[in-house]
Amino acid sequence: MSLILGLESSCDDSAVALVSSDRRILAQAVRGQNDAHRPFGGVVPEIAARAHVEILPQLIRDVLEEADVGVADVDAVAATAGPGLIGGVMVALLAGKGLALAANKPLVAVNHLEGHALSPRLVDPALGFPYLLLLVSGGHCQLLEVRGIGDYRRLATTIDDAAGEAFDKAAKLLGLPYPGGPAIETLATEGDPTIVPLPRPLLGSSEPHFSFAGLKSAVQRAVASGLHRPADIAASFQQAVIDCLVDRTARALDRSEAPALVVAGGVAANGAVRTALAQLAASRGRGFSVPPGWLCTDNAAMIAWAGAERFEAGLVDGLDAPARARWPL
Ligand code: KG4
Ligand code: ZN
Repeated sequence: MSLILGLESSCDDSAVALVSSDRRILAQAVRGQNDAHRPFGGVVPEIAARAHVEILPQLIRDVLEEADVGVADVDAVAATAGPGLIGGVMVALLAGKGLALAANKPLVAVNHLEGHALSPRLVDPALGFPYLLLLVSGGHCQLLEVRGIGDYRRLATTIDDAAGEAFDKAAKLLGLPYPGGPAIETLATEGDPTIVPLPRPLLGSSEPHFSFAGLKSAVQRAVASGLHRPADIAASFQQAVIDCLVDRTARALDRSEAPALVVAGGVAANGAVRTALAQLAASRGRGFSVPPGWLCTDNAAMIAWAGAERFEAGLVDGLDAPARARWPL
């Protein structure tokens, strides 16, 4: 059994967690910065990086204190090393290197996407490899076959916006606060998803890729027309995204023998998205796993867990590990 300290600061959440390789979360904390970014309608990289410098060290102290653990007691320090907003990425990575250096512990430089990809295994011990992963977050929209630790085959990606980005842009057009996903989900409960005609880009196309830019433009026109209630636009938009996710994932399932479908990333926190993909998996006779909402949006438990999986597999990194803005899985 090993104990891993995980650090995350690649976007607008500062997060710290202590996780054991036998799936116990000893303590964790996530501190968002929504209030700082809200006036700008999206994440401002420079503001995010500066906020991480202020928040992260205190969170590390809080989490260690809560678990009554010292850095000397952990087996490795795992820090997100990318992909993400580079100023932010550098904060957790350098903090992790400092702790690893001071306590003479190994460093695990974690790919944030691998954190999302392996997160379901933290809470679902029965989930073995391989599985088909729909990774839907603010920065990414991909279908991957997860074959093992560090062994990923990408089947599809988005040709323009990510699904979460589409939620955020649609929310902005509707005058809803950032982050847009939860705001749209709430407003959609009061709307009719069948009323506003919106496109389903790439639906039925042979490659399982995604596209959401046309959908955003259609929402813009629907808002400008003044013909529709915001709740109906929100519900119709959410349904259009779900139809795309289901159709594209179905196409990927046709190409994968993986026995289970897994959904992860911030958009996987959406209840309607979860339900639709669970139904798809059931209709195809595949297993289904989705982490709880708090584990779908950015957090450090998933980084510590990916660190634990890598550490147990003997995969550690040097103190020269680079911070990467781009880092495909
Ligand atoms: O994984 P995440 O926390 O950060 C990235 O790595 O990008 O994902 C954030 C994204 C945002 O675009 C946010 O609007 C979206 O996930 N999101 C949601 C929901 N909660 C968060 N989208 C739809 N419904 C939600 N309930
Ligand atoms: Zn993320």
